[in-house]
Amino acid sequence: MLPNGDPAPPDGSLPEPALRGLGKRPFGVYVHVPFCATRCGYCDFNTYTAGELGTSASPGSWLEGLRRELDLAARVLGTPPRADTVFVGGGTPSLLGIQGLSSVLDAVRDTFGLTDDAEVTTESNPESTSAEFFAGIRDAGYTRVSLGMQSAAEHVLAVLDRTHTPGRPVAAAREARAAGFEHVNLDLIYGTPGERREDLAESLDHVLAAGVDHVSAYALIVEEGTALARRIRRGELPAPDDDVLAERYEQIDEVLSAQGLHWYEVSNWASGPDAWCRHNLGYWRGCDWWGAGPGAHSHVGGVRWWNVRHPARYTELLAHGDSPAAARELLSTVDRQVERVMLELRLADGLAVDFLDEAGQRQARAAVEEGLLDPAAMAGVNGRFGRCVLTPRGRLLADAVIRRLV
Ligand SMILES: C[S@@+](CC[C@H](N)C(=O)[O-])C[C@H]1O[C@@H](n2cnc3c(N)ncnc32)[C@H](O)[C@@H]1O
Ligand code: SF4
Repeated sequence: MLPNGDPAPPDGSLPEPALRGLGKRPFGVYVHVPFCATRCGYCDFNTYTAGELGTSASPGSWLEGLRRELDLAARVLGTPPRADTVFVGGGTPSLLGIQGLSSVLDAVRDTFGLTDDAEVTTESNPESTSAEFFAGIRDAGYTRVSLGMQSAAEHVLAVLDRTHTPGRPVAAAREARAAGFEHVNLDLIYGTPGERREDLAESLDHVLAAGVDHVSAYALIVEEGTALARRIRRGELPAPDDDVLAERYEQIDEVLSAQGLHWYEVSNWASGPDAWCRHNLGYWRGCDWWGAGPGAHSHVGGVRWWNVRHPARYTELLAHGDSPAAARELLSTVDRQVERVMLELRLADGLAVDFLDEAGQRQARAAVEEGLLDPAAMAGVNGRFGRCVLTPRGRLLADAVIRRLV
């Protein structure tokens, strides 16, 4: 077995056992677009502004690298499975425009092919979209759009360094729906310093007015090394408060549920199973996916690897015929079991009780007594085995519950 973070082989090859179940589980392709117009102060994603990149990399050189990586993926996987899901994320994929996003999807189609009902998502920043943009990417084959709204309150957007106006995300979501997108997501961030309960209420009103079928809401994480972390350290802004975050989560869940958007993962709500993000479900259920692009992570049959982060290094390696993988790890059976508990417990469908060892099952029963896991789900119905499903209070303490069960 390889120790964690072993060097990845330059040809990108995978151990034969990892390839055995390929195509039997859903297969996803993630494409990382590492470009943003400006850097938001809270964000530590692997993304770069044109000024930061200078002449070292551009969307053109990145696309060339991406095509090479997808060719390499097809070689490594032998007979590559058709993609059930494609997710173009970032960064800011909408900066690529209709033509750039069409080229990305064509490259995925040419190497993997898509299943007949493939879900094809692109993330987009509201300010770099238009009615024409949505019509163009719908024609190109995208089926789902995820928009970074974050908030509808102007002062909250200012703290987050967002450049769109408060009304733009709703307008963009409506344009997307008018262009034929049935599946549209809005991302919210809650707990930003200075955000009041009524600011979040206004954001939720906007979300509901947009008529979307999916919402992701994330508690603001203060990432080390970001401008936001420095501002908090200097005392210019207060750090997010855990009690406030819990209250805000309850507010979101209450408002969305009342309008028919129900949680299916701790941070995700949707109007029904056909609106669930199948690509993300693939991550949460331990399926296979190839992550292409700088810094992208992949997982195939218990092998996880991740690419070099800088776009210039990424394209350089591929131009020399090498894999862009920086390192990889082979997950042991125990690693995979622990991951399964960590990810499935966050789903509304929960985790089968009998998947836990005896100590874990004891902890699960104690968590029911403490109101953290749902007693009815634990008891099982109609011959269905019991499942560990978080209660609303359990969702607020999901990480702590998970730690007890693994
Ligand atoms: C990395 S962004 C990419 C999409 C797009 N560039 C955007 O900003 O809308 C995906 C989502 O991650 C969330 N996110 C990024 N950094 C975060 C942080 N520090 N805390 C909480 N959520 C964060 C935001 O909601 C964002 O919409
Ligand atoms: S939050 Fe989105 S737009 Fe802002 S820097 Fe991060 S990836 Fe770019």
